Amino acid sequence: MMQDGKKSGANGASEGENKAAARCDAPTMISIALPKGRLGEKVYAMFEAAGYRCPSIRENSRKLIFENPDAGVRYFWVKPSDVPIYVERGAADVGVAGKDILLEYEPDVYELLDLGLGKCRMAVAAKQDFYDSGERTLRVATKFPEIARQHYAGRCRDIDVIKLNGSIELAPILGLSDVIVDIVETGTTLRENNLVVLETIFPISARLIVNQSAFRFKTAGIEAITQKMKEQVEKDD
Ligand code: PRP
Repeated sequence: MMQDGKKSGANGASEGENKAAARCDAPTMISIALPKGRLGEKVYAMFEAAGYRCPSIRENSRKLIFENPDAGVRYFWVKPSDVPIYVERGAADVGVAGKDILLEYEPDVYELLDLGLGKCRMAVAAKQDFYDSGERTLRVATKFPEIARQHYAGRCRDIDVIKLNGSIELAPILGLSDVIVDIVETGTTLRENNLVVLETIFPISARLIVNQSAFRFKTAGIEAITQKMKEQVEKDD
C-alpha cells in the first residue's frame, strides 16, 4: 500500500519510520579502545566481569577488532599511547589510558573513573652519586617531554629535554642525560641499573575515558558501563 508516495507497513507507519524505529530499538553499540599488552588484558578481564563479555578477544590471533552485539560492545586493541587519540576523535566511544598518557597529551576527553589498575608512579631518577648544583641546564631524558617540562617549570629550573622512546634508564648511565623522568612500577629496572629515585612527581593508574559527543549521545550505555566498572573497582578494593 502506498500513502503519500511512501511505502507503509502493517502498523501504518512508513517503511522509513519503521527502519528508524528498529534502529532505535537496537542496543547501542559502545566501542572501547583497550591498551594493548598486560594492562589491557587486566582491563578486559574487568570489562568481562562487569558483564561486557566478548569471548573471541581471548582467542590467540592477530585480530584487532572484536565484537559482541549481544553485549553491545566492540573492542579494539590500540597502542597504549594512542588510546586518547582514538577516543578524542570519536573512533572509539570509550577507552582506558594511564594517567601518565592523559597528563602528557591532555586530550579533550572526559575522565570517568579510576580503575585502580596499572598502579605505578612518575618519578625523577638519576645515578646514585648525582648531585644537582643548579649551575647549568639540567639534561632530562624522558618519554614524557610535557610532563618533564611542566614539572621543572614549576620550580623555575632550566632543562634540556631529550626525548627517547624506551630504555630511558640507559641515558644517565651513558652520560646522555643527568636525570630521567620515567615510570617506576616495581623499581627493579632502576635498581638493576644502579639508579635511584630522586623524587616522585605523581601517582599513576588506569582511567576510563569517554569521547565528549559519545557521552552526550550514548549517555545511558556509557553510564551503565561506568557504573558496572565502578562496582568491579569497589569489589577489588
Ligand atoms: C617502563 C618504564 C621503566 C620500567 C619500570 O618501561 O619506562 O623502564 O617500565 O618498571 P619497573 O619499575 O617495574 O622496573 P617499559 O617496560 O614500558 O619499556 P621501555 O623501556 O621500552 O619503555
